Amino acid sequence: MHNDDDDRSAAKTVLASADGLRFVPRHHSVWAEKHRPKTIPECILPSALKAPLLNYVANGGGPHLLLVGPPGVGKSTVARAISNELRWHTLIVNGSLHASMNAMRGDISEFVTETPMFFYEPRHRCVVFDEADQMKPAVQVATHGWLEDYDWGCTFVFTTNHPDKIGAPIKSRCLRLDFDYETEPARSEMYEGFRKRLRQILTAEQVECSDRIIEDRLRRYWPDFRQVLNQLQMKVT
Ligand SMILES: Nc1ncnc2c1ncn2[C@@H]1O[C@H](COP(=O)(O)OP(=O)(O)OP(=O)(O)O)[C@@H](O)[C@H]1O
Ligand SMILES: [Mg+2]
Repeated sequence: MHNDDDDRSAAKTVLASADGLRFVPRHHSVWAEKHRPKTIPECILPSALKAPLLNYVANGGGPHLLLVGPPGVGKSTVARAISNELRWHTLIVNGSLHASMNAMRGDISEFVTETPMFFYEPRHRCVVFDEADQMKPAVQVATHGWLEDYDWGCTFVFTTNHPDKIGAPIKSRCLRLDFDYETEPARSEMYEGFRKRLRQILTAEQVECSDRIIEDRLRRYWPDFRQVLNQLQMKVT
């Protein structure tokens, strides 16, 4: 396994890639990655969504999760923030690229079922299936047994833009949380939250940007905060 990170006592987050597992790089230049919140309190979320997530972390976890919403609204960020706060040993799998039947029988299965080798390794595991709608039906079925058998030792988080493509058995075994920012008061809360967050990021990056440009990018790319950040970075750097 390739290691970008020498802090061996910390909980690890690994990515499934074509040539096996590798650690998630810690250093980023793209703002959207560099300023990805690391905890739930740091995430900008409507209070109706933030409250259950804060509870989830305060309780040390809970049911498997299905995080639903359009691109760039914070689903993967929330999945990583939970596992980071709870210091779970985490595997991130891209549903379209790496969730093949072979991977399910190989690296992913090993990750779910293996017991930690060293005392400093966190015992609880978490597998995040990003873009879970891209997982073929047979691959989705392969997770059903794990969802039931390993709930005490491994939490599964599925993120998706297309909940209709997630099979009913997965839906039934997960707590579904919708990242819907369109209805009030969520929309106003998020607008205000994103605006403040942008100001913090611009200050941290020590760049000037007018309120007019911030408002324009927020409106134009709403609710995709990743795209807002990408567009602002291109504009001001
Ligand atoms: N709710 C949020 N609070 C704070 N930052 C956010 C939020 N949503 C998105 N971002 C920013 O946008 C980036 C992309 O967000 P994220 O990867 O969580 O999107 P996503 O919902 O998983 O999208 P996709 O469906 O495309 O995978 C984050 O790294 C972060 O910088
Ligand atoms: Mg995502």
